[in-house]
Amino acid sequence: MILYLIACAAGPTEYIDDGVRIAQAKGWDVCLILTPSAARWWESRLDELEDLTGHPVRSRYKLPGTRDSLPKCDAMLVAPLSCTSLNKWGAGITDTLALGLPSEGVHMGIPVLAMPYFNQAQAAQPAVPRSIAALRQQGVLYLDGETGYEPHPPRHGDASRFPWERALDAAAQATRPTT
Ligand SMILES: Cc1cc2nc3c(=O)[nH]c(=O)nc-3n(C[C@H](O)[C@H](O)[C@H](O)COP(=O)(O)O)c2cc1C
Repeated sequence: MILYLIACAAGPTEYIDDGVRIAQAKGWDVCLILTPSAARWWESRLDELEDLTGHPVRSRYKLPGTRDSLPKCDAMLVAPLSCTSLNKWGAGITDTLALGLPSEGVHMGIPVLAMPYFNQAQAAQPAVPRSIAALRQQGVLYLDGETGYEPHPPRHGDASRFPWERALDAAAQATRPTT
């Protein structure tokens, strides 16, 4: 089963290799997609991520006339979802490959999950609940509360302890065949 793990420039992306390893241990063949900002964080070590996943790490839309470099996926998990990308996605602005894939994928029958990581000051913006509602209305499994991630007080996050397990368990659940 192929998972597109899509990561924004939010704290846990510093540890995205942990997320990949945990997903692989759960049996996923992981393709990693980064926002352009997140790709900057990993600029000097992208080859490590490509070795780890065995796939190119994508962060930009392909050029017209070029072929897709990733296999088709069984599920997409956007994690960590930054506050900026949440609001862009909620407004239908998909100017990064990282948002283009899930925004279309959810309307093509692919399970799409998103787990946020941002603080309570960012979450206080009125756009945030509107964006979450817009995602849920489209069928995105937005993971917050006890089964996801709730915004932390400013300067009190611990990005190294992002609950990847919860997100991946939800992805497994979303792709489980119904009998
Ligand atoms: C070191 C650093 C850490 C950041 N951490 C977060 C974060 O945890 N959550 C968040 O929503 N934004 C965070 N930001 C801000 C985002 O990187 C910024 O909003 C960016 O535009 C997000 O772009 P993207 O969603 O396309 O990756 C951080 C920025 C920096 C420089």
